[in-house]
Amino acid sequence: MDNIAVFASGSGSNAENIIRHFNGGNTASVKLVVCNKENAQVLERAANLGVPSVVLPREELTCADPQRLLTLLEENGISLIVLAGYLLKIPEALTIRFKERIINIHPALLPKFGGKGMYGMNVHRAVIEAGEAESGITIHLVDAVYDNGKILFQATCPVIPTDTPESLAAKIHALEKEHFPAVVEKYISR
Ligand code: GRF
Repeated sequence: MDNIAVFASGSGSNAENIIRHFNGGNTASVKLVVCNKENAQVLERAANLGVPSVVLPREELTCADPQRLLTLLEENGISLIVLAGYLLKIPEALTIRFKERIINIHPALLPKFGGKGMYGMNVHRAVIEAGEAESGITIHLVDAVYDNGKILFQATCPVIPTDTPESLAAKIHALEKEHFPAVVEKYISR
């Protein structure tokens, strides 16, 4: 049985879906939520679901030798990290220690609309400005290069001329809800 740490920076709707999907079951369990923002809504969601969370400063999460984080993960027996709306770059020490054990969700069809600055509404705005006919979600493994790891799964949705970044975000969230927990489960049960 895998012990999951979910890393999140914001609202945490994906974190909540992952927790609800796994906790109480027998394939995996979310043991810890790691966050970089003291007032992020994900902390409230985790508390309501009885999952411990920790807020660490950006410097500690991104430095070359994130000792406190590594110790925390070890103490909680973490074997899989799920990034769910997590905005910081993962340090190499973690991508090495958790090789092929870090999964991210990106709210567009990588390799397009990925890389630095491409998060949240920025992504949806860029997709609409580029006149794309479709967007979607990409669930992928995380390696040392931003938005670059092996793609595990993609799902698409149409972009129509009347779409706004907000309406596109709603479509993307629906896809995330439908697929993210199931894809993580499939990956760990493979
Ligand atoms: C999601 O669209 C996720 O794909 C992206 O940021 C958004 C986070 O939403 N990386 P939430 O915090 O899970 O509600």
